[in-house]
Amino acid sequence: MTRSPDTTAVRAPQVAGAQEATPATAAVPAQATDPTDPADLLDLYLRHIGSGRAVMGRVLGGMAEVRSEGPWIHTDDGRTLLDFGGYGVFILGHRHPAVVAAVHRQIDAHPLASRVFLEPVAARAAQALAAHTPPGMDYVHFVNSGAEATEAALKLARAHGRNAVVTTRKGFHGKTLGALSVTANATYQTPFQPLLPDVTQVGYGDAGELKQALAARRDRACVIVEPVQGEGGVHIPDPGYLTEVAALCREFGALLVVDEIQTGMGRLGTWWGVDAEGVRPDMLLAGKGLSGGVVPVAALIATAEAYAPFSRDPYLHTSTFGASPIACAAALAAVETMEREDTVARAATLGARILAGVRDACAPYREILVRDVRGRGLLIGIEFAEERAVGELLLELITRGVLVNHSLNSTRVLRLTPPAVVADDALDLFFTTLAEALRTTAVRMAG
Ligand SMILES: Cc1ncc(COP(=O)(O)O)c(C=O)c1O
Repeated sequence: MTRSPDTTAVRAPQVAGAQEATPATAAVPAQATDPTDPADLLDLYLRHIGSGRAVMGRVLGGMAEVRSEGPWIHTDDGRTLLDFGGYGVFILGHRHPAVVAAVHRQIDAHPLASRVFLEPVAARAAQALAAHTPPGMDYVHFVNSGAEATEAALKLARAHGRNAVVTTRKGFHGKTLGALSVTANATYQTPFQPLLPDVTQVGYGDAGELKQALAARRDRACVIVEPVQGEGGVHIPDPGYLTEVAALCREFGALLVVDEIQTGMGRLGTWWGVDAEGVRPDMLLAGKGLSGGVVPVAALIATAEAYAPFSRDPYLHTSTFGASPIACAAALAAVETMEREDTVARAATLGARILAGVRDACAPYREILVRDVRGRGLLIGIEFAEERAVGELLLELITRGVLVNHSLNSTRVLRLTPPAVVADDALDLFFTTLAEALRTTAVRMAG
């Protein structure tokens, strides 16, 4: 059984320098802690998780990830990979010590609540989060995943009589049934039709089309939009777009839901994408980075007016594990760590540096391979002329020890969501690896 990505293109099974570049804090040796035989693991996947995931695992060499810290992931066969992927979760890296310590303390004290009495950590996490949202967005409903945050927003909008939803083409908001209804991707929607009724897609960045949609749904719509489309391929709208969207929502009596599950928590170099334009939505969705990279948690944050139905009746929208002390401990620690370490400013400067470096690395291939390199903060996309290049480069990078992601709603865009805790040696490793991987990919694409 092969232990490197299963492609003829892949020739560099071990990442030169990756181990050495692991920061001193990585005291844990990069060795297997999971005794499971890799062949058995693939078999378990085949028998219990699914053939598709098993095939993906095999293509990637059957490696299993077993440990992590900061920007590093260790596999069972002793490799260390620099994680510039993670679908945007790891703004604080993996296992940030402050978040881990807070979660440990919570586990030792009271991990899950009875849900009968008051829960101090939930209240403190809500207060901490609300301290960084646009003024007046004070109410927080914690949930367990991004899709659940979208569900909560769609239901809250309905509680205000906003039953129609306007979403954007290539927008991504999750895959539970309600969320999927506003995730504009036929591949994921078609098998599950019919979805929610009265959902309209408009062009992202096109305020004119939005105006038409809202005019036809006066006082009965909600708009859900990302400040930068992440899964849509790091699609950055023109400056002023969100301001226009907010103005149109006011004009036509629509509720505005800004989905910051990927873009929030400092990812764009501001706490939230809306901060760049000083827009205050009715609801804002957070997730991913809110976990501190440790415990899954997401949230709907709303103005008092928008939140009123949930505020009045705490049983209107519930989930057993929602706002669990353990998740809220992670969220609180994540926010406090970001404050202490100035993560948002770091994301802005580091992001600018990485974007410039990626542009330089891609420059020789601009005409043939690469169409565009774009980004804001630590959300960066490389758009290729051909879809195949994304897979080729992704495998090349993994082979050389760098993890990145594709984009679910834009198949020609490779996505980088590095953590804000990347040190200079790791950055050097990334740029060198990217240059090598691009060179090999370009040769293969030409051949
Ligand atoms: C903008 C956005 N919204 C919602 C989601 C769904 O979040 P989750 O996968 O936690 O359900 C994602 C996930 O990628 C996302 O990027």
